[in-house]
Amino acid sequence: MTSRSPGKRTSRRTRSAITVAASGVLAAAAVLTFSPTAHAADTLGGAAAQSGRYFGAAVAPHLGETDYESTLNREFSSVVAENAMKWDATEPSPGQFNFSGGDELVAYAKQRGKFVRGHTLVWHDQQPGWVQGLTGDTLRQAMRNHITKVAGHYAGKIDSWDVVNEAFEGDGSRRQSNLQKQLGNGWIEDAFRTAKAADPKAKLCYNDYGTDGINAKSDAIYRMVQDFRARGVPIDCVGFQSHLASNSDLSTYRQNLQRFADLGVHVQITELDVGGSGAAQANVYRQVTQACVAVARCNGITVWGVTDKYSWRAQETPLLFNGAYQKKEAYGAVLAALNSAAS
Ligand code: XIL
Repeated sequence: MTSRSPGKRTSRRTRSAITVAASGVLAAAAVLTFSPTAHAADTLGGAAAQSGRYFGAAVAPHLGETDYESTLNREFSSVVAENAMKWDATEPSPGQFNFSGGDELVAYAKQRGKFVRGHTLVWHDQQPGWVQGLTGDTLRQAMRNHITKVAGHYAGKIDSWDVVNEAFEGDGSRRQSNLQKQLGNGWIEDAFRTAKAADPKAKLCYNDYGTDGINAKSDAIYRMVQDFRARGVPIDCVGFQSHLASNSDLSTYRQNLQRFADLGVHVQITELDVGGSGAAQANVYRQVTQACVAVARCNGITVWGVTDKYSWRAQETPLLFNGAYQKKEAYGAVLAALNSAAS
């Protein structure tokens, strides 16, 4: 874990001292927060920092748009590329790498003192065409080379990498992707070991959706993480995408995060968005935020976009800012839940 890494819960005094030493923008927010007169932070990133967490957003190429960029700058302490670090974007043809989108985001984050999540090294979706036709050992070597080159390129700059994304089905079986069919059960472990060699400092995460409670899918992932920890396969975190609806059942959400945390890994909410509006939407956002801050090893939350108008679920208005960059009711719910964790 790097010294900038969020997630260690220390006393406010220690934490603020570490933060001051470590990074400018976050430090300024923390100092304000810890002054005797201020009791609550007024941005998501500032509020999350009070309990040693980040609050991030997925970023698409809209950084030139004034309101987009100012909202991102002000509210979020972490970023992740919505698409720019995926396999199809980074290695469009075999061995030909294109890091332009990812490099731009990493440079932006570095200038602003923000954390970067890496998403995602290996996934069945958004693979370039040339990968989809590979078989056997050729696919294995292509996967290893991709991980080595991409994680190697960004080594030292990524707080957490989604090494493997969405490898399980809802019933807890392995998804029958090209990776699973060609390489067999060992491919996930292989991917993590390869990522560890390429970037020994990043936290290495397994990331998935439909894991918003204790269910067959989260049980299967739990057993995999338990096995990896027992055998020393390098895994540091589990990402819970949390693509939700206003009526999502979150009755075991916190309990589920906690059981993973109890395996000794960090847990992170990685792609949060909630279809709906008003109080119902705000209530789901509140529950998710409260669950994270109730779990010591839940070290950060990322929402899957900045504004409803650019969301992959735009018709469902699932984010914290509307199309005019106004704060929605859900924003207030999240901010309050983050602040209450600090007080
Ligand atoms: C989505 C992006 O938001 C879209 O822009 C893209 O067209 C498809 O992928 N799970 C993931 C993310 O891990 O990478 C996906 O992002 C959403 C579902």
